[in-house]
Amino acid sequence: MLNEGDWVLIRYGDRSYLRRLEKGGSLNVRRDTLRFSEVIGKPEGIRIGKFEVFRPALEDLILLGFRRKTQIIYPKDAFYIAFKLGIGRNSRVLEFGTGSGALCAVLSELAGEVHTYEVVEEFHRLAVSNMKRYGLGENVVFHLGDFGEAEVEEALFDCAFVDVRDPLPYLEKLHRVLRDSAPLGFLLPTANQVVELLKELKPLFGGVEVLEILHRHYKTLPERFRPEDTMIGHTAYLVFCRKVTAPDK
Ligand SMILES: C[S@@+](CC[C@H](N)C(=O)[O-])C[C@H]1O[C@@H](n2cnc3c(N)ncnc32)[C@H](O)[C@@H]1O
Repeated sequence: MLNEGDWVLIRYGDRSYLRRLEKGGSLNVRRDTLRFSEVIGKPEGIRIGKFEVFRPALEDLILLGFRRKTQIIYPKDAFYIAFKLGIGRNSRVLEFGTGSGALCAVLSELAGEVHTYEVVEEFHRLAVSNMKRYGLGENVVFHLGDFGEAEVEEALFDCAFVDVRDPLPYLEKLHRVLRDSAPLGFLLPTANQVVELLKELKPLFGGVEVLEILHRHYKTLPERFRPEDTMIGHTAYLVFCRKVTAPDK
């Protein structure tokens, strides 16, 4: 049932809108109007004229609802990251930097607990407000500060993900705060950043993999089923590895 105050995903052809249902509210697209009073009290997943109204998924909240002041990690990458980090209901996850909170929202939905660090106060506040606005992130501890300077207990985390321009200064600390064998991931936009990271990872982390995820969307008209004309060629490289320790240490 759709209630007043709920966030909804409204589809009109191939357009998508995220709106909050308020009694006097409406959405106008081309010459059509959807009055929210017609929707409130109706079942979820309803078609009214050319409009379809659904309960939004996490992907809709992030892509249509989160305000962004930093580059974000897109859901296509975020869910695979969570899979590679082996995140489950009991995982305690470390993330930095928080940025706009897009990856953090995904980690939070899947993990037991997330600790995220952001050094810029404006971005820290933005991530907190993005999450609170949609009722997300109750299991997230938002730290305002530089991860490099934070006091963190040894072997506290089951996995970690790092999305900062230069991750090299943090490798030893990451090794220290991760439990043995814990998965660790990085997102890096350019190939030369990946090469620099690969040179430094070996002594502390093994099982290294580098990949990127390409998405190709298709037109959904049955009589003209074929790929969309344009696609995003590159978002970022993903680097995954696991904490290793030599037996004599
Ligand atoms: C590209 S953004 C992260 C975006 C985020 N993954 C998302 O999906 O919304 C990188 C962020 O890392 C922050 N940052 C850089 N170095 C940091 C550090 N040492 N500790 C904490 N945050 C840091 C930056 O201020 C910036 O907001």
